[in-house]
Amino acid sequence: MANLRGKNVFMTGATSPFGVETAVALAQAGANLALSARNADRLNAVAKRVTDLGVQAVVCPADVCKPMEIERAVNLGRSSTGRIDVLVNAAGFKCEGPAIDAPIEDVQTSLEVNYLSAVRFTQAVLPEMIQRGSGQILNVSSVLGKRATPQRAAYSASKAALNAWTDALRVELAHTGVAVTLICPGRLEDQSEAKKTRFAMGTRGAAAAVVRCIRRPRREVVLTPAGRMLCWLDFLAPALLDSLLARVRKNESLINQHPDPSR
Ligand SMILES: NC(=O)c1ccc[n+]([C@@H]2O[C@H](COP(=O)([O-])OP(=O)(O)OC[C@H]3O[C@@H](n4cnc5c(N)ncnc54)[C@H](OP(=O)(O)O)[C@@H]3O)[C@@H](O)[C@H]2O)c1
Repeated sequence: MANLRGKNVFMTGATSPFGVETAVALAQAGANLALSARNADRLNAVAKRVTDLGVQAVVCPADVCKPMEIERAVNLGRSSTGRIDVLVNAAGFKCEGPAIDAPIEDVQTSLEVNYLSAVRFTQAVLPEMIQRGSGQILNVSSVLGKRATPQRAAYSASKAALNAWTDALRVELAHTGVAVTLICPGRLEDQSEAKKTRFAMGTRGAAAAVVRCIRRPRREVVLTPAGRMLCWLDFLAPALLDSLLARVRKNESLINQHPDPSR
């Protein structure tokens, strides 16, 4: 299997549990990394971890809500690594709560971080990829972008926007040599923590999926069996899924209103 030696990967969201595991997996495959997020200390710690594996890493701090910082980060990544072969858009903003009174700031930040940042980073790196006739954009979305669930309206809507944009981009870039991949994880579980949940996938498994998608580009990957089931059920019987989700939601509300006094 071809490895990623000599490939330069620029990744946003590089300090999250998924981001760290992905950086390590990419470094183990031989890729050099440009790592972006806001927290420079955490970025430096990730950079140290991956350079210990024998690859080059550059830290490119940026707040993805600030277009000037995105431009600066991409220029730094490009000038340090020579060129950007692969862009992984993985910055994320999570928020929960009923759609009916979701704070507009949360809706706005979801769109900025989960959707617009991917648009901005992609537009910043695409011209050189198209000119070279090679490259890859990987957008890390969520199964909730394919099927929204209660209490996650703002997050789901921003990921749905990312999905739609990614689909259009992929077709626009056909025949340019630039591949576009959408990755839709279900629930991820931080493998640096001991807790285990029944429906989650480890961040290490998700990171391995990213590496596979760079080795052999795919149009879309849905991660976790529960995530795939949600998508299938939505495709086959959306009204049934609505009522199942409504029932789960009702049970959760009842539990919250009448918590078990023994807990
Ligand atoms: N965890 C899950 O169960 C799950 C499920 C499906 C999809 N996903 C997606 O997978 C990706 C990783 O998820 P995760 O849960 O590991 O991490 P996360 O908490 O969703 O992502 C946080 C990452 O984004 C960066 N970030 C947030 N706001 C930013 C901003 N304004 N500017 C720059 N960077 C910003 C954070 O770094 P700084 O704070 O240092 O800036 C951090 O690296 C996300 O795109 C997420 O939506 C996660």
